[in-house]
Amino acid sequence: MENANATSPSDFPEVPDLHWSAEMELDDARMDQTHHEMVDLVARLRTLPHDQQLEPYRELVRHTVEHFAQEERWMVATGFNADNCHASHHETILDTMRQVESHFLQGDEEIIDRMAAALAEWLPMHASTMDAGLALHMKSVKFDSRTETLADPTLVKPATMSGCGSVSCS
Ligand SMILES: [Fe+2]
Ligand SMILES: [Fe+2]
Repeated sequence: MENANATSPSDFPEVPDLHWSAEMELDDARMDQTHHEMVDLVARLRTLPHDQQLEPYRELVRHTVEHFAQEERWMVATGFNADNCHASHHETILDTMRQVESHFLQGDEEIIDRMAAALAEWLPMHASTMDAGLALHMKSVKFDSRTETLADPTLVKPATMSGCGSVSCS
């Protein structure tokens, strides 16, 4: 290995710590707050030794369930089919996160580190594409994410959209 002071493999130094920044804001206070919370949960997880990671990891999974359910509610409220590609993407991530917990319990003690590193890379990417598309779409149909209501329901045709907002799903 090139760096004599390299940390243990479980530290995954190639994935930098993720910190909340204004660049991650999508101009939707409730979505931003949820993303900020996730950033903090992931960052905290990456500072913990393996034997202290299980409970905080479970907390992150619970938070992610709520996070995704919230966005999926907003999609449906603003005209998307329930099984659109953004929602399927969420499902894939959550499936992986759940599998990580069982692998950890079976003795793969570095797997939470690997998942946390993967999420530190994944979240900014997902937020700046699929979530940004959703936020823009919510704005265009005047959906208030705080009260989860439409200012003008005639702007939305229920279950007519299958894409991911302003981004392609390919
Ligand atoms: Fe999100
Ligand atoms: Fe999302």
